[in-house]
Amino acid sequence: MHLKANRIFLESATRDFKRTGAVAPSSRALAEAMTRELARRDRGTVSVLEAGGGTGSITREIARHLSHGDHLDVYEINSAFAWLIGQRLREDEAFRVEATMRVHNHAIENVERARRYDFVISGLPFNNFEPETVREIFEIFRRVLKPGGICSFYEYIFARGAAKIIAGKPAERERVDGVGRVVKKYVNRYEYRREIVLRNLPPALVHHIRFDLWSD
Ligand SMILES: C[S@@+](CC[C@H](N)C(=O)[O-])C[C@H]1O[C@@H](n2cnc3c(N)ncnc32)[C@H](O)[C@@H]1O
Repeated sequence: MHLKANRIFLESATRDFKRTGAVAPSSRALAEAMTRELARRDRGTVSVLEAGGGTGSITREIARHLSHGDHLDVYEINSAFAWLIGQRLREDEAFRVEATMRVHNHAIENVERARRYDFVISGLPFNNFEPETVREIFEIFRRVLKPGGICSFYEYIFARGAAKIIAGKPAERERVDGVGRVVKKYVNRYEYRREIVLRNLPPALVHHIRFDLWSD
């Protein structure tokens, strides 16, 4: 399964880097950091939303922390990835848990608006999106989270600087700067903990935010 997942990831990254947004699936260390708050949960049963499941490296870690009565929805826009995660849910030992888990081959923008979650765990490649799309997605996360709910997401360290150097064109540099401003706004207002993960390619910074920390 590991080799197959890596092959599908490489094919997608080569074909559509903008959406895939990574050169490799997340490491175990990054998956652990992304699920640290879920692991420390102090609620009875929980509902989790994963945005951008990829080949399932973070999904697998999420599943480790789920048990009877819990629910997981994974939204993944790429049909090859969504298919792979679906197959892993059925066949991979790591996913043999009693929780209910569903994979949706849809963009996160189409998430079922009526559902509410305790945790949102996002692997979306914000740096590749338009600033307005990033803002829209943060607002979706805010809306679907229950009071006290936690949103965890990561950024690759130095990624925006590198993207601007590679971009060359002023419009592209402005887009990347715009994404930076949106992410910074949410981090400055709502972050309560962050974690640097060096054991990942490339190293990453995990943000944990709570929208009810400050009222607007
Ligand atoms: C950087 S990869 C992360 C994959 C995986 N979570 C990991 O960490 O290894 C980003 C993933 O987000 C997916 N994606 C991109 N835009 C999306 C969207 N609007 N809605 C849902 N998934 C999206 C991509 O197809 C890709 O699988």
